[in-house]
Amino acid sequence: MKLTYFGHACFQVEIRDKKILFDSFISHNELATAVKTDEIDPDYIFLSHGHADHIADCVSIARRSGCKVVSAFEVHEWLNKQGIANTHPMNTGGKWNFDFGTVKCVVAHHSSGLPDGSYGGNPMGFVFLTDEGNFYYAGDTALTLDMQLVPTWARLDFAVLPIGDNFTMDVADAIRAADFVACKTIVGVHYNTFGFIVVDTEKARQDFQQAGKTLLLPAINETINLS
Ligand code: NI
Ligand code: MN
Repeated sequence: MKLTYFGHACFQVEIRDKKILFDSFISHNELATAVKTDEIDPDYIFLSHGHADHIADCVSIARRSGCKVVSAFEVHEWLNKQGIANTHPMNTGGKWNFDFGTVKCVVAHHSSGLPDGSYGGNPMGFVFLTDEGNFYYAGDTALTLDMQLVPTWARLDFAVLPIGDNFTMDVADAIRAADFVACKTIVGVHYNTFGFIVVDTEKARQDFQQAGKTLLLPAINETINLS
């Protein structure tokens, strides 16, 4: 499975020739000016929640590519109002079999208002179960005991966790989250984009290493192979 990082909490995973983009926030990210948003052509966009730093480029990418957008029910309704019809509403606890594998929506402790103030429902994380491997994307969330349920559903090859603190888990809590989900390979996201979430990345890598885990922090536009 290949993962390409586009900055902040935006990344793309390729599974069975399907390109799955997560939390499309690129053109407003000052650190991601080298990413050519117009050339991103996914088959799916998964949105963890409705905050602008996760959905800002969703409407334009979805309109151009025709991809299917998967999100909480309320975010789906909002997207429909923006003229994006190819959507799939889900909610926490539910799963669906897509053409690349099965996705289960899990608890994330955060908030989810949409950019125009509309109600966005609850934020979510996603557990992906596929022939090419399994992974968990936590979305924006606090450390939560609910994460201990993840290994009962999936043996993970990797997990994508926020590490930036202030709005989400910090590095120490992300290490505990990695324990809760029983995963040693972590891709860190949601850090260094704004002043509130600056992380000492070298120390973060060392802290994970001391806990017997690997923290991967791909550069923007870098593609890494996982599982
Ligand atoms: Ni958020
Ligand atoms: Mn966020």
